[in-house]
Amino acid sequence: MKYFAVITALAATCLAQNIVINIPAANSTVSPGQWVTVEVDKPGAQSPSTEVALVLSMAPCPSVGCTDPSYNPSNQLGQILYNGPYNPQYHPETGVGKPQYQNFSIEVPTSFTSGENIALIATHINLIGAGPEPALQVLFVPLTVV
Ligand SMILES: *[C@@H]1O[C@H](CO)[C@@H](O)[C@H](O)[C@H]1NC(C)=O
Ligand SMILES: *[C@@H]1O[C@H](CO)[C@@H](O)[C@H](O)[C@H]1NC(C)=O
Repeated sequence: MKYFAVITALAATCLAQNIVINIPAANSTVSPGQWVTVEVDKPGAQSPSTEVALVLSMAPCPSVGCTDPSYNPSNQLGQILYNGPYNPQYHPETGVGKPQYQNFSIEVPTSFTSGENIALIATHINLIGAGPEPALQVLFVPLTVV
């Protein structure tokens, strides 16, 4: 626990080199057993950073909902659907105007049921700057199971 508190504090000081989940959009609907494309973007590359790892997971929202400010996805990552390298690249064709990104295909767990609100959670670890400084970022988009 202590270890994670330190890493989280470090991450808070490193605002650059963060990722965003561009697809699916917040409040998209997904079905149990469906394969969905998750596009993880890395906008802005001002300072050098080295990617370490990415974890994609899905967890049920608490009863207050995932959009409640009290919700912290770090408390429960839920079912791990991808755990491996993150290697964002520019889109193959030019002129698309997208930042570096990588697509992942993950399967929505069949244990989720229709009507359930869930979070798609991305946990991102990289090394920033010349130090380098380690950064842990945990972000999510809320989804609805139909
Ligand atoms: C998603 O739904 C929540 C709760 O209804 C709402 O606050 C939020 O603005 C919605 N976000 C988008 C991108 O539609
Ligand atoms: C990644 O997925 C998005 C959304 O489906 C698509 O527009 C894009 O072309 C894909 N990129 C690659 C390299 O397959």
